Amino acid sequence: MKLLIDDANIVKVKETWEYYPCDGVTTNPSILAASERQPYEVLREIREFIGPERELHVQVISKKAKDMEKEAGVIRERLGANTYVKIPMTPEGLKAIKSLSEAGVNVTATAIYTPMQAFLAAKAGAKYTAPYVNRINNMGYNGIQIAMDIHDIFRKNGLSAEVLAASFKNSQQVLELAKYGIGASTVATDVIEGFIKNAAITSAIQAFVDDFEGLVGNGRTMADC
Ligand code: E4P
Repeated sequence: MKLLIDDANIVKVKETWEYYPCDGVTTNPSILAASERQPYEVLREIREFIGPERELHVQVISKKAKDMEKEAGVIRERLGANTYVKIPMTPEGLKAIKSLSEAGVNVTATAIYTPMQAFLAAKAGAKYTAPYVNRINNMGYNGIQIAMDIHDIFRKNGLSAEVLAASFKNSQQVLELAKYGIGASTVATDVIEGFIKNAAITSAIQAFVDDFEGLVGNGRTMADC
């Protein structure tokens, strides 16, 4: 399972990238708004930081297929041709996904709440489909199960699309999908930090340090004992 950062705060992106093994960055219009910077200014900075080969996902705003396609062109022109264009999975979105995919554009179908949306987007050529796990849970359905069902639908129908699960609120949700082997998850930086924040880990490590310092002296390590 690939792990992507769902954030456009350049400081947080850099910090998370430095410590965690990440495969790319995803954004949406709300995430860009939260950065309080001009969209292309911050996106260009993210692109420069992660390099031209890594995955960067950027969403269109338009509601009509033709306008979505126009936006996709500008996004790729300004951020690199391999940038994944996120298209909301409406009927107009589906039309845009079809023609963009035929033209060789990497498309991520977004705002996925149902397996049928994902199935159609994949048939239309989307590379990824992004089910919103926690938002689905908040509606009283099982977001993890829906993401797994989408993964199974792709495999059983010979579709090459992958699930890019999104909208996580805790480690357990991400872990369930890693166990299932879905294609990718995109996760906010604070949730990523929570992956290995655990009092048991901290106390086990501190006990090792205390024992060692008891033997050779405070502040000593294997480099100077
Ligand atoms: C991904 O495509 C979505 O834009 C995003 O992950 C939604 O996350 P949220 O539900 O935490 O806003």
